[in-house]
Amino acid sequence: AEPPPEASVPQVGDPGLILLRRIGAADPEDLDSYRAHGGYTALRRALLLGPSGVIREVTDAGLAGRGGAAFPTGRKWAATAQRPETPRYLVCNADESEPGTFKDRVIMEGDPFSLIEAMTVAGYAIGAQTGYLYIRGEYPRALSRLENAIAQARARGLLGPDVLGSGFSFDIEIRRGAGAYICGEETAIFNSIEGLRGEPRSKPPFPVEYGLFGRPTAVNNVETLVNVLPILQMGGPGYASIGVPGSTGPKLYCVSGTVARPGVYELPFGATLRELLELAGGCAPGREPRAVLLGGAAGGFVRGDELDFPLTVQGARDAGTTLGSGVVLVFDDTVDMAAVLVRIAAFFRDESCGQCVPCRVGTVRQEEALIRLSRGAGTGTELPLLREVGAAMRDASICGLGQTAWNAVESAIDRLGVFAGAAPASPTAPEEAP
Ligand code: NAI
Ligand code: SF4
Repeated sequence: AEPPPEASVPQVGDPGLILLRRIGAADPEDLDSYRAHGGYTALRRALLLGPSGVIREVTDAGLAGRGGAAFPTGRKWAATAQRPETPRYLVCNADESEPGTFKDRVIMEGDPFSLIEAMTVAGYAIGAQTGYLYIRGEYPRALSRLENAIAQARARGLLGPDVLGSGFSFDIEIRRGAGAYICGEETAIFNSIEGLRGEPRSKPPFPVEYGLFGRPTAVNNVETLVNVLPILQMGGPGYASIGVPGSTGPKLYCVSGTVARPGVYELPFGATLRELLELAGGCAPGREPRAVLLGGAAGGFVRGDELDFPLTVQGARDAGTTLGSGVVLVFDDTVDMAAVLVRIAAFFRDESCGQCVPCRVGTVRQEEALIRLSRGAGTGTELPLLREVGAAMRDASICGLGQTAWNAVESAIDRLGVFAGAAPASPTAPEEAP
């Protein structure tokens, strides 16, 4: 579903912000306005540092990918840059499709030049001359603003055969997705750009070695890329002083569900989940958060009495979940959690590309069992079935979709106790059949 428009409104113009500071302050359709708000200072510094100097700054900054997996960006760029094969490619993954994720949309609509500048810096660092911006088809306003930003950058020599007179040649091509969640998986993006069916490839080989058109490719999420700008502006160590060791810099969170002020919020890593929910206005008067889904459908739930852990990669892991793409989906005590689980399972069943059996069949069986449970079937047979199917999907699926399709359901059963009150024996259990 389309996220709420202008999701970042509660924070517009806040001078303490890093990633969102231009949103609502600079004109997203005017390059001069972007420059007046600090635009293109990072690219100029990058051209002075040279490609290896840029990679060193990003490595020193401790930047980890913001798409969901938190892989070290400096390591990814270094691995791509050192490959002998050419051409190399940069792919910006803007196919933001994780349910409850809408941070990249806010950046692309509100500060599109920052992504174009950041892609140019990334292309320079890894030695790419072409960057593909793969954007989800449901983001028409972001698309038109990015197209406008690219055209203005080209006209002013900020993209093209001789970027800022440096001799570096770089340009950006946009490709639109067509509504498939799986096309946000990085190797499915390659297939989609190459004109093939949007199905993931087996990894390894990783894209840094064998990516788009079989060439070394760095794939980076939108939020990851725009973090490179403050890294170059404040220096890697300066950036690393924000947040906590192991989780550095600012982080965007997509807060939605039963909170007073849903939207995109920026906080340094290390703030607690409770602090974030307070920023978002908490639940309605008299209501308490019963559960919070972190990391999206592939993530996991925490209970309302577990809100005081730090929002860091390790903090989320210790809490039994992941920060993933920054989803913070809040459920108060009025929400029917069994229905939520059925909805999550339906999503995975719908979005499975069908390429491998554990996911293609497992997501169907998972949804069926959850529907039976939500209609009052006994837990005695349904929960063991769910666990068996979940383990098969996790262990034997080709890509992250199948591997994580059981995560949220498992945590809701084990952590929230959904179905704990259901009857233990199933009326449809085979041993009870006549
Ligand atoms: P992954 O852990 O397989 O890889 C993460 C990144 O690191 C990839 O770019 C991969 O190529 C790279 N990588 C991993 N090991 C490497 C190595 N040894 N050498 C070089 N590069 C290496 O995770 P994946 O499947 O790419 O992403 C999963 C995440 O995506 C999940 O956390 C999920 O939450 C998130 N996600 C985000 C969505 C969104 O809309 N933002 C949508 C769906 C999932
Ligand atoms: Fe396709 Fe699912 Fe297999 Fe991924 S795990 S390749 S989405 S069938």
